[in-house]
Amino acid sequence: MSQTPIIAPSILSADFADMEKTFKMLNESEAEWIHLDVMDGNFVPNISFGMPVIKSFRKLSNKVFDAHLMIEKPERYVHNFKLIGVDLLTVHYETQVHLNRTIDLIKRVGMKAGVALNPHTPVSLLKDIIAELDLVLIMSVNPGYSGQKFIEHSYDKIREVKDLIIANNSTALIEVDGGVNADNAPKLYAAGADVLVAASYIFNHDNPIKAIRNLKYFNQ
Ligand code: DX5
Ligand code: ZN
Repeated sequence: MSQTPIIAPSILSADFADMEKTFKMLNESEAEWIHLDVMDGNFVPNISFGMPVIKSFRKLSNKVFDAHLMIEKPERYVHNFKLIGVDLLTVHYETQVHLNRTIDLIKRVGMKAGVALNPHTPVSLLKDIIAELDLVLIMSVNPGYSGQKFIEHSYDKIREVKDLIIANNSTALIEVDGGVNADNAPKLYAAGADVLVAASYIFNHDNPIKAIRNLKYFNQ
């Protein structure tokens, strides 16, 4: 665990009419990663953006591109996401029949590989794959929208993933996504979260750079 959490702002709540301004802010901020929520209107009810958009964003920042795929059959697009400059690709456990094959493919093409768990999906299902993973994403809301309320049970899940990682000598990082704000950030970090994703807390704040700092340093 590092001294402070990695902050991964989700641009889902940003102003899509002015992404140059958004990326300028993110580049100047202390956020290390940029979280990209890809939604297909099938796995989740909402539709967001896809590959051509991410390809354009890549020109605007050198920060780590952390793509969270909320789409069915994500394995079809692994090569495409590598080609447009994604660094870390996360697929949902619930979309996979052959998770081991997909994780292997993501790593083989040269990206880090993550698995996301919906709020109802037990951590124990990762037991036989945890050693292969670079990241576990705990969804602390039901995926599909920003601005939802944090699910309190997520703390227990984070602690459970941490135990699983230690027991299996895994190097996976734990990322938490949904309803993250300056109030729960310290508790999430204490529970074992390495990476905090936030959309509405950052982009609804009158000073997003300060909001990112609040998440990272807990208002100190
Ligand atoms: C939800 C997305 C999240 C979302 C987070 O499906 O995966 O990344 O943008 O939004 P907030 O931080 O507003 O809950
Ligand atoms: Zn996300």
